[in-house]
Amino acid sequence: MEMEFEMKKELQMGIEEMGFVELTDIQKVTMPLLLEGKDVIGHSHTGTGKTAAYAIPILEKIDFESDAIQSLIICPTRELSLQIRDEILRISKYLPKVKVVTVYGGDPITNQIYALKKKPQIIVGTPGRTIDHLERHTIKLDQLTFMVMDEADEMLKMGFQEDIEKIFSFIPEKRQTMMFSATMPRTVLALAKSYMNNPEIIKIIGKEETNEDVVQYYYKVKRENKTEAIYRLLNVYRPKLALIFCNTKAKVDELTQQLIERGINCDKIHGDLPQSTRLDVLKKFHNGVIEVMVATDVAARGLDIKAVEAVFNYDVPEKADYYVHRIGRTGRIGNIGYSFTLVSKGEMKQIEEIERLLKTKIKKRSIPTYDKVLDVKNEKLIARIVELADSENCDKEYEILNKAIATPLTEDKIIVALLKMLAKESSVEVNQEDINEEFEIRRDFNRGAASNDKTARFHLNIGKIDDLTVSDILDFVCSKIQVQRREVQDIAILTEFSFFTVPSQFADGVMIKLNGSKLKGKTAKLSASKPMNSERKRFDNYRH
Ligand code: CDP
Ligand code: MG
Repeated sequence: MEMEFEMKKELQMGIEEMGFVELTDIQKVTMPLLLEGKDVIGHSHTGTGKTAAYAIPILEKIDFESDAIQSLIICPTRELSLQIRDEILRISKYLPKVKVVTVYGGDPITNQIYALKKKPQIIVGTPGRTIDHLERHTIKLDQLTFMVMDEADEMLKMGFQEDIEKIFSFIPEKRQTMMFSATMPRTVLALAKSYMNNPEIIKIIGKEETNEDVVQYYYKVKRENKTEAIYRLLNVYRPKLALIFCNTKAKVDELTQQLIERGINCDKIHGDLPQSTRLDVLKKFHNGVIEVMVATDVAARGLDIKAVEAVFNYDVPEKADYYVHRIGRTGRIGNIGYSFTLVSKGEMKQIEEIERLLKTKIKKRSIPTYDKVLDVKNEKLIARIVELADSENCDKEYEILNKAIATPLTEDKIIVALLKMLAKESSVEVNQEDINEEFEIRRDFNRGAASNDKTARFHLNIGKIDDLTVSDILDFVCSKIQVQRREVQDIAILTEFSFFTVPSQFADGVMIKLNGSKLKGKTAKLSASKPMNSERKRFDNYRH
């Protein structure tokens, strides 16, 4: 593989063996910056290779002659820790001195202490257990040079904020810090601001990353018919591996049970299951032992599950960006995937929001009829019969057949009876109706108000009483982030505060680089504001 930067020969070999043909966009941009020693915040969709984006530069720069821990990678779950470790070990296959140890809760600490005695250079762990080891002095970070927060948003959502802050109190000031996150809420930016040194923010959520290789369909169907809908789609499309997302753990339990009853080879993962069970299910899914996995968003977060051919959204996710993460599990680099979303009446609005975020239309389709499902099932059965008819070792079967023929029954009657026995396997009561629904969506009158994804408007706590002028705002914004003056628009200076708008790709930069810095002798406080036109629209409405 051609690289624009130098890399150890051994690393090149490892990467080539993994089959990387080309670096992903996020890798192309972040790796040179990391190699230069910059702090970096990486923001891109699931499955775009963020692990290698930080692992390769770290492996390139670590001093393997030293016994000290030089890199700590923290992430939200045990599964993810193991996955990151495995990816690092694959990349560094030809670098014999690499030692990686994982530390996470729910596993005897003594085993980990033993592993730590072998002097790893890299630790991958969850924040809580990492703190335990720091307090026991079984992990010492005084020589740490690379600190990584992977899936930072998820860690914060899981309540790891304090633990993360504590970890930073144990590590040297002079270090390189990296953060990766699939979303960039304000809490994540605040964390970056406190612990990172003038980070470069690399956001790659362009058109090409929004799953062009995923064929996306949605179906209008009543809530109570959703299981039937999934069953029919699974039978007609027959994806090799399918991942089904539900919004709640209870729904995951219920749906898994219903599908198993109907003969689908499936299992589930969610946060209430013991870690060992989750790992076991994941492994079986990886190996194709189970073909369908039902999951909550959190449980499936960040996991690199290969070769998923179809993602089902049993529920439309509550947040539009979850949809992007969910369908990111299919259509991985070089493969085509399907995404099927079941939409009941109350969920139509969310679909529209998702379309706006993705800037694409999701196609509406009809749930296959019951007859269609039967046709496909029968075809499958006949194909199977044809295949088995030619197999060897049928002596036992012929013995039974001879006995059956000896009865007064004709051969076709015998065959029909056998088919009936086969069909009995799935004797669950099913809904055979056409389950497609047509419901009108009530258009929200003030639709533009919710969000405008091309620009971001900000509220600034400084205004006329501080002698703030338009050119002060322009100088302030353009000196700190790479935005053109003409791109800063709709500046409004009111008595005590002001507003301005920037193209949305600069929004994170505004929050992280401007918030808290000085302007007109005051500390600037910025917050996201509603888009300009909605302010106007609402105003117009009042006048009527
Ligand atoms: O962290 P993120 O969700 O962005 O993705 P990941 O967990 O690192 O998964 C990326 C997958 O793509 C892994 O299986 C990598 O081996 C593979 N890959 C890559 O990371 N980089 C390439 N240039 C090509 C493939
Ligand atoms: Mg990742």
